[in-house]
Amino acid sequence: MAAKIPEKFLDHIRPFLGGTGAVEEFVETAQRPLPITLRRNPKKLTKESWAQLVQEQNWTLETLPFLAEGFTLIGAKNPGTLLEHRLGFFYLQEAASMIPAEVLRRLNPKATLILDLCAAPGSKTTQIASFAMENSLIVANEPSASRLQVLVANLVRLGHSNCVVAQQDGREIGKLLPEAFDAILVDAPCSGEGTLRKDRQALRGWNPKRFRKITKTQQELLESALQSLAPGGVLIYSTCALSPEENQLAIANFVHRHPHELLTCDLGETIPELSKSVTQDGYLWVSPHHYDTGGFFVAAFKKAGQAPNRNDLSNAGSEVSSPLISLQQTLKQNFDFELSQCPGSLEVRDGKVILNPPGFLRVARTLGLNRRGLRIATLSEGEALLHQEFALAFGASFRRNFLEVSRDEARHFLYGGELNPSIEKMQIGKQILLRYQGHPLGFARWENGRFRNLLGPSFVQQSVR
Ligand SMILES: C[S@@+](CC[C@H](N)C(=O)[O-])C[C@H]1O[C@@H](n2cnc3c(N)ncnc32)[C@H](O)[C@@H]1O
Repeated sequence: MAAKIPEKFLDHIRPFLGGTGAVEEFVETAQRPLPITLRRNPKKLTKESWAQLVQEQNWTLETLPFLAEGFTLIGAKNPGTLLEHRLGFFYLQEAASMIPAEVLRRLNPKATLILDLCAAPGSKTTQIASFAMENSLIVANEPSASRLQVLVANLVRLGHSNCVVAQQDGREIGKLLPEAFDAILVDAPCSGEGTLRKDRQALRGWNPKRFRKITKTQQELLESALQSLAPGGVLIYSTCALSPEENQLAIANFVHRHPHELLTCDLGETIPELSKSVTQDGYLWVSPHHYDTGGFFVAAFKKAGQAPNRNDLSNAGSEVSSPLISLQQTLKQNFDFELSQCPGSLEVRDGKVILNPPGFLRVARTLGLNRRGLRIATLSEGEALLHQEFALAFGASFRRNFLEVSRDEARHFLYGGELNPSIEKMQIGKQILLRYQGHPLGFARWENGRFRNLLGPSFVQQSVR
């Protein structure tokens, strides 16, 4: 049964809901469960393979009005337990939550240094990574340690290699990295009122005093973001709240403090498909009844001034030591894979070989990253133990030494099981990549007539169908 919407809350947002019948429509929509919505991950799946998957699964999809890669899935249940989800083909995300990153894409498609200030669990970071240019760097910041783990798991599952992760209080980043980024998303911590269709507790005990602390944090995050934004850069602010204190009023305060630095972007022009949600000031106040979504607010600004020239994001000064050369040769020999062609630079750190995305040196020295780039291998007693996240990001390009397995074998492997396929000539002790329909599952090692599963505990998943 749907939770009752508190009258006080309805009165509070009534002025924004619209004309005749809007309140009833809001209440009726808010009490219905959210549709299942998802985003195709172009890093893993071409449009053709996506069409094939849709056919195989017998899915009925409707494309979201504002995003070609976003869909409503009609009639299907639990897509999150499918093998295809584990393989990173798609990301389950509430439709309105896809708006802020799409706004960023439309306003600054060529941004190369991007900050996601409040990033976990990574819905918007992974969306940004899916369209960001190959030579770009995305810094995903999240202060909460437990939420940060989920963020990293999502980045790894979707195979993104151009993201680094910082664990800072976002309010400090402006001081640490002034005028550094071309685009910044502040998807701020908020009261979460807009999640009322998903979370029956979202409005429990609602009262207008609860905003005080959160609105202060929101202002401080906005200040920090503005400081960290390069001239000409784009700043997006979003919340999944519906009250004006966290949205229109928060932005009015912010603009009031920086009348000459902030140029408001009219989102009615940027994303005309969402015309029902455009406010007088050119922001988006997305009510659930507008497009059958959750509630969201989005505002966007350009920072006055001339954007810096960002032609070169190379990590100048990075080393190419002999262990790296040897690893490159091994990968070439074993998998016919050219590590040197991956964007970014390699480093050896605490015995681990890491592929750092282009430009990471610009942030790494100041920010103290929780996770630098993609882990390629651990060097141990002269051997390179290849990492599973390397497999997931680049394994589809290996041209040798991979084994295609059946769907049942793939599921068994992901449960942590060992495989015993009928292969006679395997090189003992060598790591081999297992793939399902060309998509990487992870590494295994041929030992005693079986494939020993090399997935670590964090990669094992019990409920894949
Ligand atoms: C709305 S959620 C972000 C959702 C995320 N952008 C996504 O799309 O998956 C807000 C996040 O802000 C984080 N947060 C809270 N205080 C923060 C601060 N001072 N600086 C940065 N992030 C903060 C919370 O831990 C939470 O993960």
